[in-house]
Amino acid sequence: MKQAKKILLVDDEPGMLRYIKTLLELDEYAVETASTGEEAIEHLKGGMEPDLILLDLLMPGIDGLQTLEQIRQIQASVKVIMLSCVTDTRKVVQAIRLGASDYLTKPFQKAELDAVIEQCLEPKKMAYAGEVEELCDDVFFVAASPAMKKIRAQSALVANVDIPVLLLGESGTGKEVLARLVHKLSPRAHRTFLKVNCAAVPGDLLESELFGYEPGAFTGATHAKPGKFELCNRGTILLDEIGEMPPQLQAKLLHVLQDQQFSRLGSRTMIKVDVRILAATNINIPEALANKMLREDLYYRLNAFTLNLPPLRERKEEIPILLKHFMSRMSERYGRPPLPLSPTLMEACLAHSWPGNLRELSNFVKRYLILADEKLAVSELNPKGDGGGHLNVHEAEDLGGLKSLGRTAKDGAEAEAISKALDQTNWNRKQAAALLKISYKALLYKIRQYGLGETSSTERKLSARA
Ligand SMILES: Nc1ncnc2c1ncn2[C@@H]1O[C@H](COP(=O)(O)OP(=O)(O)OP(=O)(O)O)[C@@H](O)[C@H]1O
Ligand SMILES: [Mg+2]
Repeated sequence: MKQAKKILLVDDEPGMLRYIKTLLELDEYAVETASTGEEAIEHLKGGMEPDLILLDLLMPGIDGLQTLEQIRQIQASVKVIMLSCVTDTRKVVQAIRLGASDYLTKPFQKAELDAVIEQCLEPKKMAYAGEVEELCDDVFFVAASPAMKKIRAQSALVANVDIPVLLLGESGTGKEVLARLVHKLSPRAHRTFLKVNCAAVPGDLLESELFGYEPGAFTGATHAKPGKFELCNRGTILLDEIGEMPPQLQAKLLHVLQDQQFSRLGSRTMIKVDVRILAATNINIPEALANKMLREDLYYRLNAFTLNLPPLRERKEEIPILLKHFMSRMSERYGRPPLPLSPTLMEACLAHSWPGNLRELSNFVKRYLILADEKLAVSELNPKGDGGGHLNVHEAEDLGGLKSLGRTAKDGAEAEAISKALDQTNWNRKQAAALLKISYKALLYKIRQYGLGETSSTERKLSARA
């Protein structure tokens, strides 16, 4: 006979304790109870090793959070599900931060209890077990390393709690993809998701873009226009590159976060909206706070929960699955047979440091697919080694007959120089602009003009040829 899983149930209300114990015993779990945090800790110190702990948040004496902290010191990896009340949002978020696997809001149905326990003890049985999931049309989220799986799990939890989330990580680590994941896993999934890139729009335009305007609000405002916040009502908005938002606009945004209301430019009427805010940035936060690029009060509001994406070089075990994933996506997208991923190519990829992270990897696969030359692809990853280096447009033309490029050589060379500078600076646009001796705004314009980033020049070459 299969051995019963052990559950330690911790709650100060005797009625609740009895009720949940009965439910669990119906499913043949071996249940131990404790009516205070202290008692639970004693059990664990005494050698009890439960498979799962159900832990009430609000208890006299040491509360659920403190208990959780102590549990982590005794049994670092034991799974814990928090039992909370609707009003405990902040505490639930803290518990997730402390590594709670999930939470249940009282009162709950038996089915909810079952689902949460099953997800916790036997995640393989549940809907999400794979390493690749499709978020929306042609947007995928791959999570294969322990670090990314943890981020996936935390996203699923925090998606249900209606608080802002701050997404941090180097350029190309997948902040936008992660924002889409949070939206998709949230109760707002069937509503609008909008992204606003705060760096790509000049300050005053950004304000009208976010909040809308009335006729006459400024020269040229002939008609009323709703802003992104209105369009996104009941949905999720991603404020990308939040560190680039002008400080006075940050103050207005803070009001929206506090009161969920604002007025259009040129109007005094307050508009109420229900928008979940996600914010992303790759700036150095302490530095940005110190030099007042980022308002501290706004930062603390946005930072209700932070998801920190590790750079690709710190999750290299994902490279094989990502290569395979990008190869199959690209080959499907461009209607070409996938190319083999040989051990030599794999080795070169594992040795590379990927300063542009997943974006660089995905562009690499695209280039490989265009040129269909493994040796060249490998040498490209190892520029110093055998004189390879990034392909310039002329090389690409020689190799692939890219006459159909439909773009002048100047444009090509410029786009190539920009993408090189971006790769070199790890997509730090300020540094790249300095390197290229052009203004920051000019660089942002050119990035968009040449479709670097989301759709690289390589992708266009590939579409042109496919
Ligand atoms: N977890 C992931 N699974 C699959 N693809 C991913 C993942 N993360 C990123 N990508 C891919 O890598 C590219 C860059 O991702 P994304 O735009 O989300 O990065 P970012 O962190 O927002 O970068 P930036 O700071 O430059 O805006 C995209 O093409 C995206 O599809
Ligand atoms: Mg982004």
